[in-house]
Amino acid sequence: MGHTRKKITVIGAGFVGSTAAHWAASKELGDVVLLDINEGTAKGKALDLFEASPVNLGFDSNIIGTSDYKKSAHSDVVIITAGIPRKPGMSRDDLLATNAKIMKSCCEGVKEHSPDAVVIIVSNPLDAMCTVAKETLGFAPEKVIGMAGILDSARFRSFIAEAANVSVKDVHAFVLGGHGDTMVPMPRHCSIGGAPLTHFLSEEKINEIVVRTRKGGAEIVGLLKTGSAYYAPSASAVEMAEAILKDQKRILPCAAFLQGEYGVKGLYLGVLCKLGGNGMEGVIEVDLNAEESAGLENSVAAVKDLVGALEKLNY
Ligand code: LAC
Repeated sequence: MGHTRKKITVIGAGFVGSTAAHWAASKELGDVVLLDINEGTAKGKALDLFEASPVNLGFDSNIIGTSDYKKSAHSDVVIITAGIPRKPGMSRDDLLATNAKIMKSCCEGVKEHSPDAVVIIVSNPLDAMCTVAKETLGFAPEKVIGMAGILDSARFRSFIAEAANVSVKDVHAFVLGGHGDTMVPMPRHCSIGGAPLTHFLSEEKINEIVVRTRKGGAEIVGLLKTGSAYYAPSASAVEMAEAILKDQKRILPCAAFLQGEYGVKGLYLGVLCKLGGNGMEGVIEVDLNAEESAGLENSVAAVKDLVGALEKLNY
């Protein structure tokens, strides 16, 4: 019998990784391998999730936990969440040195056992971790994609839906730039059921939502105190995995390795991408007004600083 189910490996069995495994299994995207250096955590969470499979709607996914990369061999998609999270007062950039080392060792395992996978990076600081991953893996740029834009846009969309008192399903909006304080929410490109956002909300309310979106990650860290967000980040990573595994050709904001788009070359940045079976199948460049261009340039500068700091580290 041929093995026709897709295979998804999630690296890091913390809150983001285990919740990603949960979303992926419950959507029956394929069989799931939950991998962590702490074997007991990976095995325990995987077994618990497997035992949930007959209940409620049920799902036919095999789920295993492991610390052995051999068990992850020939994955179609790998989601890397491993790394330490932020504590209150820390910026995502404060995680750079520790998480670069962790990212490098994960990618060595992926490179050896799943050379044909599309790899989705979730660990922070996101744009720098994408760079570490791409360099360690040596994969084509379209096979290494960062998850941030869907998360930042999901925050933006949920705040808009709440303020406008409309279904989140009808709110289309995206955030460009790096996954940090300089991210660029794009209210001018937002629509609710095709109508412009300004039809529903005042400029003042829109600005308030833009500011809250930029600080969305920190808002959760401030509340949790011992970790960072995981429901929305993991759901966002799994939305990318689904688009790739089902070759959906979805248009979603992701961190992509730019090769001249928006005048940027050789840098990961959050942009609108087409996601399909080959990974990142194209960047959609939207028109920017002067204010949006300035915002994006500011974000590019911040990501360049971060990658500059990364290059000085001996990770
Ligand atoms: C956030 C972290 C995970 O935005 O970057 O919640």
